[in-house]
This record gives sequence, C-alpha cells and structure tokens, in this order.
Amino acid sequence: MRRAIQFRLNGEAVEAQAAPHENLVEMLRESFGLHGARESCGQGLCGCCTVLVDGRAVSGCLTLATLVQGKDVNTIEDGKALDAVQEAFVECAALQCGFCTPGFVLMARQLLDENPDPSEDDIRHYLSGNLCRCAAYPEIIEAVRLAARKRKAP
Ligand code: FES
Ligand code: FES
Repeated sequence: MRRAIQFRLNGEAVEAQAAPHENLVEMLRESFGLHGARESCGQGLCGCCTVLVDGRAVSGCLTLATLVQGKDVNTIEDGKALDAVQEAFVECAALQCGFCTPGFVLMARQLLDENPDPSEDDIRHYLSGNLCRCAAYPEIIEAVRLAARKRKAP
C-alpha cells in the first residue's frame, strides 16, 4: 500500500506517494522525473545513486523513500546555474559517459564543505566510495582540486 510523504526537495515543499519497498532513487525518478541519481550496483557500493538527506550524502538505492518524511532532500538538480564543482568537472573533462558524475559532484561538494583545501590523498580517500567505470579518476581528482581553488577565489 502506498503512503503519502511530505518533504523538501531541492528547496521546495513536495508530497509523493511511496510504497514501503520503494527506494529514494525510484521515487525521485517516478514521482518527480529526476534522473540525476542513478541506480547501478543497488548495494551501496558505487555512489552513482548519491543524494543528500539533511545535508549528508546517502545511497539512494539503500534509503527507503518513506524515510525522507519531513526531511530536506537535495539532488544534483538543485541549482539553476553550475556551481564551482560542476564548472571544474566541465573544465577538466572529468567524465566520459557521465553516469557516475552526479554522485562524484555531490560528494566533492560535501568534501570541500568539510575540508576546503584537501590534499590528493584526502580526495582519493573521501571519494573512495564512488566508482567510475570509465576510469576518469585522474581528471576527477584534478577537477576537485580546481574546484577548491575556485571556491577560494574572491
Ligand atoms: S546504486 Fe547505490 S551505491 Fe551503487
Ligand atoms: S564517466 Fe563513465 S562511469 Fe564515470
């Protein structure tokens, strides 16, 4: 049986119907047409389904949709303009197919919020839960370093 849940999605109050077994990625897709969070492994191993819930990254594939009742949910679709991280990913060509990119961008934002000047080791460690099948890792690391500089620029 589906149940109504209310929460904030990318800054707006919304309501959706969710079945008890439905995960957050499925609800974002089916109820709101948001395709940025992608389900790949479905086991919490790849980071492609990353979504922010109350400001913290979670695996959307392992988060039941009904658990976001009353919470703040943010996806890669949360801004109208590119932020520093997205600009850096474009400038560094830090993607090939792009399937993993939303998850990397959300995690990179969270990293830079916590540590504005990360070393390469910090970046590798923080992003170790995100997998890129195209192996664009060198460009992704370069992009995060560029994003850190962009964020510091006046
Ligand atoms: S699809 Fe959720 S972690 Fe891989
Ligand atoms: S760019 Fe293709 S999976 Fe990462």
